[in-house]
Amino acid sequence: MTKTKAIPMNDLKRLYQRYQAEIEREVANTLRSGWWLNGAAGKKFAANFARFVGVSDCVLVANGTDALELALAAVAGLGEARKREVITTANAGGYTSCACWHNDLIPHYVDIDPASQLVSVQALLRAASADTAAIVVTHLYGGVVDVRAIRSGLAEAGLSHIPIIEDCAQAHGARIGGEVAGSLGDVATFSFYPTKNLGAMGDSGAILTSNETLARYVRQLQQYGWSSKYHVGLPGGRNSRMDEVQAAILDILLPDLETRNAQRRATLLRFKSAAGRRVKFIDGGDGAVAHLAVALCDKRDAFREFMKERGVDTDIHYPVLDCDQVGWSNLPMKGIEYLAGSRASVGRICSIPCYPDMTSDEIEQVCGALAIWETM
Ligand SMILES: Cc1ncc(COP(=O)(O)O)c(C=O)c1O
Repeated sequence: MTKTKAIPMNDLKRLYQRYQAEIEREVANTLRSGWWLNGAAGKKFAANFARFVGVSDCVLVANGTDALELALAAVAGLGEARKREVITTANAGGYTSCACWHNDLIPHYVDIDPASQLVSVQALLRAASADTAAIVVTHLYGGVVDVRAIRSGLAEAGLSHIPIIEDCAQAHGARIGGEVAGSLGDVATFSFYPTKNLGAMGDSGAILTSNETLARYVRQLQQYGWSSKYHVGLPGGRNSRMDEVQAAILDILLPDLETRNAQRRATLLRFKSAAGRRVKFIDGGDGAVAHLAVALCDKRDAFREFMKERGVDTDIHYPVLDCDQVGWSNLPMKGIEYLAGSRASVGRICSIPCYPDMTSDEIEQVCGALAIWETM
């Protein structure tokens, strides 16, 4: 063994150091302004992010789970009350499931395509019915679901009224057929959790849409259901806001998102070239943004131990399918008997460090370890 520098799954101090001067200046300006919520920084970031994604409206909220919960509340609230099912996958960390149950909606799980770990479009179309309130597609690990194929399949089945929500928490700047994730469905949700491709320095999230009615509904729900200050026009509202400091920080990082996504992609490509037989990296498509470098591997425990001995941290995203979570075992759900691909993958997936500020020495150290494992 040559070098054994410890390589963590992420190191956000490096991000801070890279942007330190700008961040400290803008954070100080924001604090000095004496206006810390619902102000100019939020307006500016929302407009810039909507333009980047290619939609007309961006509503800033407190985190990505709130974004999902509010988007689901809005589409369910605008739809027919008797439709309660939400088609989604069981392998995406539980955020959509959580948001469903908070809205008294029922997750209807469908299987994935193991090579991409994204929803199987065929399985999704088989599950869509007159009871479907919404579809949530998760652009997992930075890969992009083929929303156009879903739309045309729904149209053929006479179900084109079903709203599609894109969960873009792992896919800032990802593309499919030249179109940006977040502009493909009826409404999109984002998380800016610190480790995301576009991450804040605390919690925050956003809901994007080009549907004016939806945008208005979400804005009301996000602020107590107010139609105007202190006047409640809708039930089911609550408070979910992004603060001005986070918006100012995100606006500094947004212009570099594409460059930093390209760095992630290049790192993942290096890993792919060092592996392939025992460790098969997930392929999220040409426009994917390598939010995580996730591989399917045999003998996962031994592989993780092997990487650890060589200083490389690993993780599992995610170790338990939503339908198998102990705490959710008594909640309503559908589709759990048809998840063979999800079940076959959950014991084999493994994430390897992949973030833009990794040094080339670190990338080579990971590749060296992968290459040895391949020969064993
Ligand atoms: C796919 C996905 N959806 C939703 C979320 C929820 O975002 P947050 O942590 O900001 O609530 C996350 C991440 O944490 C995520 O990875």
